[in-house]
Amino acid sequence: MEFNFDIRRILRPDEDGFVILSPQAASPNNRDLNQIIDELGKASARAQNLKSVITTAVRFFSSSDNKLYIKVEDDKVVGILKTGKRKLFHTDMIGKITEMTPLCLLDFYVHESMQRHGHGKYMYEKMLEVESISPNKIAIDRPSSKLISFMRKYYGLSDYLPQNNNFVIYHQYFDVIIR
Ligand code: COA
Repeated sequence: MEFNFDIRRILRPDEDGFVILSPQAASPNNRDLNQIIDELGKASARAQNLKSVITTAVRFFSSSDNKLYIKVEDDKVVGILKTGKRKLFHTDMIGKITEMTPLCLLDFYVHESMQRHGHGKYMYEKMLEVESISPNKIAIDRPSSKLISFMRKYYGLSDYLPQNNNFVIYHQYFDVIIR
């Protein structure tokens, strides 16, 4: 995605092309940064056929623990990934309800011109590394069919019980290692 200003000056990506933003560490008053977040949020919602936009600058800066991973290549923004913790209630096969507060994948988007080139995997791996977490421990908010395929392909995750809250928690989340 291209912008009519120098995105590198605004985002200052690291040598791998990543910018990782938290609401406390970034300025809510940077108009260009807000435009980048808003445009990516809108594009993501369009790509997922969502009625409302999940990621906006206003919402991001008013959250307490959200994190935005933005990937840059040359003078373009490749995509965006948003995480945050959510209190969820999970119902298992026998109807037992468990309260949990997992790290959640809240939004994930790679620009249409760059999808299926490995950017999504690269971004997801970066997030796993930064959060020091394994893929089975992440809850996913309303995964699209593309993301369902992505999780199966790269992480062998496919089994879950559909929940009323639309968050997907894979069965492997509950795996415990008994020594
Ligand atoms: N149809 C089905 N699966 C797709 C797909 C498509 N059009 N695009 C990506 N995938 C899945 C497949 O498993 C694919 O592997 P394959 O090409 O061997 O079938 C794999 O992702 C490709 O991995 P990678 O290139 O690293 O992913 P990406 O850069 O395309 O990023 C998404 C993955 C989901 C972020 C990206 O496709 C996207 O932004 N989609 C639109 C928004 C969306 O659905 N976001 C998920 C929100 S829950």
